[in-house]
Amino acid sequence: MRPKVIVNAAMSADGKIALPDRTEVKISGEEDFARVHELRNEVDAILVGIGTVMADDPKLTVKKKFVKDPNHPLKVVLDSKGKIPENSRLFDEGEYLIATTLDKNDPHWVRCGDGNRVDLNILMKELQKRGVKKLLVEGGGEVIYSFFREELVDEFNVYVGSLIIGGREAPTPADGVGAEALDEIDYLQLVSYTPMNDGILLCYKVKKGD
Ligand SMILES: NC(=O)c1ccc[n+]([C@@H]2O[C@H](COP(=O)([O-])OP(=O)(O)OC[C@H]3O[C@@H](n4cnc5c(N)ncnc54)[C@H](OP(=O)(O)O)[C@@H]3O)[C@@H](O)[C@H]2O)c1
Repeated sequence: MRPKVIVNAAMSADGKIALPDRTEVKISGEEDFARVHELRNEVDAILVGIGTVMADDPKLTVKKKFVKDPNHPLKVVLDSKGKIPENSRLFDEGEYLIATTLDKNDPHWVRCGDGNRVDLNILMKELQKRGVKKLLVEGGGEVIYSFFREELVDEFNVYVGSLIIGGREAPTPADGVGAEALDEIDYLQLVSYTPMNDGILLCYKVKKGD
């Protein structure tokens, strides 16, 4: 069975996840950060795209500040062309896997197809082989939409912060090409809504076969 896929993101009240130039924006607060770190601690792997690594340089760890005895989920980056900088902070601690379309003779790299971009279905099989049962996809918008496009998302959590970023070019939680016809729209079932900090956390299940 492929890993269960949970997407988590934070967006402004107008549906943006960063500035148009990809600069990171603080959208939520301590209570939500604690929730995200607890969620990270419950999964086997955390995945982001190379766009997020370049923009935010995330560590992708579980902070002791939020979880007493943290686990060390595998960190996964989608990087078709091997652009990841050697000094990226995610290399500082814990295990990592770079999913690419290049031939690399390195156990930290896995080739997923030979197309333009990482083939997510091949990646799911590779993660399954490595014992990943639960995968947390944290962004960015290009990557999240690709998971929807391939019908690989099971749960979608989005924290909606009380701010407006605005602008046509600011990224959203689901960018990429998006639905081009009505039958390509993904439908969700709202499972819970929880006020948190000065915003609200919305948790959805993805409806299958709609
Ligand atoms: N608010 C939040 O919750 C949150 C969370 C995370 C990120 N962000 C923001 O999101 C922005 C980055 O998002 P982004 O959309 O520019 O980049 P992204 O989704 O992080 O990464 C996209 C890149 O991943 C690579 N990739 C490889 N295989 C792919 C596939 N199958 N599908 C999609 N992408 C694939 C592609 O580059 P190659 O072709 O070079 O491989 C693609 O350009 C930043 O501004 C960051 O601050 C916000």
